[in-house]
Amino acid sequence: MRSYREANPLTPDPSRLTKEEMTTDELEKILAQQPVGRLHRLAQDRIHRHFRLGKMRLIDALLRHSVENRAGLESDLQVLMQEGSRTEPPTGRRRKSEAPVGRAARPGQSNRQTIKPGESEPAESATDLPAFLEGIGVPPPRPFVPDAWQEEALAHLAETDVIVSVPTGSGKTYVASEAARRAIESDRTVIYTSPLKALSNTKFTEFSKLFGSDRVGILTGDRRDNPQAPLLIMTTEILRNLLYDAASGEIDVRLDTLGLVIMDESQYLADPERGVVWEETIIFCPAQARLLLLSASIGNPQDVADWITNIRQTSCHLVRHHRRSVPLRAGYLHPNGKLTPLFRSVGIPHSPGAPLHPEAKRLFTQYEDATLRPR
Ligand SMILES: Nc1ncnc2c1ncn2[C@@H]1O[C@H](COP(=O)(O)OP(=O)(O)OP(=O)(O)O)[C@@H](O)[C@H]1O
Ligand SMILES: [Mg+2]
Repeated sequence: MRSYREANPLTPDPSRLTKEEMTTDELEKILAQQPVGRLHRLAQDRIHRHFRLGKMRLIDALLRHSVENRAGLESDLQVLMQEGSRTEPPTGRRRKSEAPVGRAARPGQSNRQTIKPGESEPAESATDLPAFLEGIGVPPPRPFVPDAWQEEALAHLAETDVIVSVPTGSGKTYVASEAARRAIESDRTVIYTSPLKALSNTKFTEFSKLFGSDRVGILTGDRRDNPQAPLLIMTTEILRNLLYDAASGEIDVRLDTLGLVIMDESQYLADPERGVVWEETIIFCPAQARLLLLSASIGNPQDVADWITNIRQTSCHLVRHHRRSVPLRAGYLHPNGKLTPLFRSVGIPHSPGAPLHPEAKRLFTQYEDATLRPR
């Protein structure tokens, strides 16, 4: 009776690896059967930045490289298949005395656990992904109660300009939309600016749902919809140009009824190239309109508040806190697709120099070895 392999002549036989009659097609098929970790080990010292490649591109690169030294590639592959491929020890950087994996390492020289050809690689034990991802999800619905800082910002906005400097995901949009609602209810118009057309488009959709599409318009370089609406979304550059034009002549947007200008992502004020646009917009903003600056990352918000107080007729109140409603977790995503916690703790430690997770350290060292080593 014929064996499976005899009955399926297209399936390459790995034992032919070192024989000369192995065709490129056969070699490609054998490579395709290997776990991707083994292919990366084979690619070490052969292919620059091989960790960036997915399996198919890695095989392609190995085949291209094999034109230079086919026998070397095949013999290294055979060694790796015989000894089974194990990843680097969890402590990281390879010892100087240890040969590069898959090059000079030979059976008997290595104390690595032997894996039979065809067996899959052992799972990384140091990575505790369930712990890393635990608790992420959609919280159960509960009635909306504004936070004290949101109330504080809205209360001050009735009298003064306001800068809101709070962490990302805190709820700055609620302050913006509630302030807009109050302004529109008192027959004032509102302009909302963002630095990006994409964000302006998102806000246009969001505010249209909230206020009704007849009450919301958009002006960006690409789009012009409903410019007479009481709530206009635009990029900051468009507002700056509008304020320039208003100073010298006719514009088709009414600024005399403008009651509120919301500048989202206002940390752009510090941008070396675009910051001047934010600066000029604040300087030229009509005196009767209140300014609401929103940001998660202004480094010196009190300085900015003092500057606005100096140049405008009303004072500027700063609302600031550092509490995170959504705690951050730091992970390290290796180009080979492995995700590990970056630090030993799941959250981001407050003290500098906190210990890295050993698995992240190992993967990072591996990546550094593969990409930064002098060639
Ligand atoms: N007082 C609140 N209580 C509970 N959830 C809130 C509250 N205020 C806002 N949220 C919710 O918090 C989430 C994040 O809000 P939002 O997008 O406004 O954050 P942000 O401060 O603008 O963040 P970013 O800096 O990323 O722009 C939203 O899902 C929002 O509904
Ligand atoms: Mg926001």
